[in-house]
Amino acid sequence: ATSESTTYADPARYVSDHPSNNVPPHIAALVGKGLHTRPNHPIGIIRAKIQDYFASLPHEFTIYDAEDPIVTTKQCFDDLRIPPDHPGRSPSDTYYITDTTLLRTHTSAHQSEHLRSGAEAFLCAGDVYRRDEIDASHYPAFHQLEGVRLFPKEEMAAADGLAGEAWESSPECAAIAADLKSTLEGLMDHLFGETEKRWNEDYFPFTTPSYELEIKYQGEWLEVLGCGVVHEEVLQMSDRGDRRGWAFGLGLERLAMILFQIPDIRLFWTDDDRFHSQFKSGEIVKFEPYSKYPPVYKDIAFWIPENFVENDFFEMARGIAGDIVERMELIDEFTNPKKGKTSKCYRITYRSMDRSLTNEEIDALQDELRVQVGEKLGVEVR
Ligand code: PHE
Repeated sequence: ATSESTTYADPARYVSDHPSNNVPPHIAALVGKGLHTRPNHPIGIIRAKIQDYFASLPHEFTIYDAEDPIVTTKQCFDDLRIPPDHPGRSPSDTYYITDTTLLRTHTSAHQSEHLRSGAEAFLCAGDVYRRDEIDASHYPAFHQLEGVRLFPKEEMAAADGLAGEAWESSPECAAIAADLKSTLEGLMDHLFGETEKRWNEDYFPFTTPSYELEIKYQGEWLEVLGCGVVHEEVLQMSDRGDRRGWAFGLGLERLAMILFQIPDIRLFWTDDDRFHSQFKSGEIVKFEPYSKYPPVYKDIAFWIPENFVENDFFEMARGIAGDIVERMELIDEFTNPKKGKTSKCYRITYRSMDRSLTNEEIDALQDELRVQVGEKLGVEVR
């Protein structure tokens, strides 16, 4: 893999006047920062620690981390059997550049190209983008690490030609699932020490069977990854129908927030030296919060039109106020039976991580938000 990250850090690649383009400038500005390739950044440190674990296994995994974050709908969805009407493909959830290109929503978007190139086992890390709610653990850009391992034909000889249910109930499929689970349990022990884990059945169109792994952390079960036995059609579409294998994908922020005790996902994107000076390659340390400035709360209530898209509203706030929007929460909702109209009230928490906010500046931002939601989202502000 070559480092193309400087090319990727060009906002002009992501914002255009194509009618399908829904990438706002504040999102385009995040692309190409390469947090996962920085040795002293918590995201880079976790990634390196995961790679160390895979390097300790007898089997060799090729490392990728410089793929273009712009992928096609084919790469991101079709090659993974994600159907055309899947909600994850909707522009309310995904950032489109054109109607056939988008900011990848998961690193699984690179499975097919690496499979097709002949890879037998690989890890692939990168930044991914999703339109989502806004709070301390959700940010529209985050990082994933994907792992795929195929098994040589000889080991699958008995299962040769098995398809669908016959394959899924074969001992070979069970053996792959068992290898997947023990590999990932070993990874969790490498990251967290011996921890309690549990497996739940899950569903992904590109793996079957599919599972999610949860670990117990401070008394709570936390979902840390999704995985499964790669669907035969995914392999066939990449001309690897002669192979079987497993795949997993995990979120690096989620793991880093737990391991470094980082309380707010926005911190990963800060330039503040009080953050960065705390982290060094190869070291897992507890983050010492340097100060928490007081929040400013503002409520906004409006009647919504029928086609109201909540993520458009969330994003509009970030577009106007940037990262000082810490959280947006629906606090009240009711329908007026006579008018048949629904009103929603949201509480916005504004907080800066590096200075005190004044009530006047927040009022100005909130006023701008009231104007823009009225004009662009067709809501009736109350
Ligand atoms: N791409 C999935 C997600 O983002 C995770 C996954 C990867 C699941 C590989 C199965 C196999 O949720």
